[in-house]
Amino acid sequence: MIRARITGTGSYVPEKILTNKDFEKYLDTTDEWIVARTGIRERHIAAEGENTSDLCLKAARNAIDMAGIKAEDIDLIVVATITGDYPWPATACIVQNKLGAKQCGAYDISAACSGFIYALSNAVAQIESGTIKRALVIGAETLSRIVDYNDRNTCLLFGDAAGAVVLEAREGERGILSSHLHSDGSYFELLGQPAFGTAVTPTEEIVRDRGYFLTMQGNEVFKVAVKMLAEVAQEAVEANGMTVDDIDLLIPHQANIRILEATAKRMKLPSEKVYINVDRFGNTSAATIPLALDEANRAGKLKENDLLVLNAFGGGFTWAATCLRW
Ligand code: UT7
Repeated sequence: MIRARITGTGSYVPEKILTNKDFEKYLDTTDEWIVARTGIRERHIAAEGENTSDLCLKAARNAIDMAGIKAEDIDLIVVATITGDYPWPATACIVQNKLGAKQCGAYDISAACSGFIYALSNAVAQIESGTIKRALVIGAETLSRIVDYNDRNTCLLFGDAAGAVVLEAREGERGILSSHLHSDGSYFELLGQPAFGTAVTPTEEIVRDRGYFLTMQGNEVFKVAVKMLAEVAQEAVEANGMTVDDIDLLIPHQANIRILEATAKRMKLPSEKVYINVDRFGNTSAATIPLALDEANRAGKLKENDLLVLNAFGGGFTWAATCLRW
């Protein structure tokens, strides 16, 4: 049977680091509050002029090098992002050009923090159907551009990053086993960027009132996130005739340490089987999972045939999980 297997991983974070102490200097907050309520200690922030496609490019090159392929070998580029360089054209097209890939398919997927799993499942389907042989799937965000640094409820949560994987068609049992995508648009107002789109076009008032930033009802998001992250991870293992005990490593979307701990507890999964790096990067939306996957891979934490589960939750609401045999 043909499966889509991850043959290369890569990631990139911008050089500049914002620590909790940096926020203490001008906001009514403390390092203690941030660490206790979120687990975040620092986050990376893109330099002026450094855009999402630049982050994508660096992560992609690392993944391509590891896979031992050339950019011309890629049949499809999918970028999961909510902070593309422009509303359109797609950031994936900018990446295709910068990478020197052939004139392959290239498009973006918008599913907020679940974006990478959505993008992955989309590329996997095309590989399994025999339509393509190799895909580059990237999750990348420059959230610092849509965050209000005067809003203590949101600004300290987010960071910038990119993570990428090369997927290739391979015979055998190793590779992506299944993907499970969900949404509930009745929650659309709880987490998002209300402007600018066709519903809210630019006006002087919106710019003056700073109405174009990311907004979030943190508490409400938290409650639904914990429930859905646990449920969808369980759904993914059960769909493959396995149980939570079979999981070697859960690589969850990194939003908040308390969400990760509560999810693991709900699933009855020991904490050492949950990959955590939210302390060093914060919430980088679609980038958290491929960034964590690359980190774990390069640190030698993933062994052949390990059962990995990736799960995510984000604006929309969207939530999703992938089960894979490494
Ligand atoms: O990526 C997927 C989507 N995002 C998420 O999954 C994020 C989900 N939500 C969260 O992670 C949490 O809700 C937050 C970290 C955003 C907030 O934590 P919380 O435990 O839900 O805090 P809260 O909003 O209930 O606020 C608790 C208190 C409030 O004070 P009072 O009303 O109890 O006096 C806030 O005003 O903490 C106060 N507070 C702060 N204090 C110091 C809120 N932000 C801060 C701050 N520093 N930065």
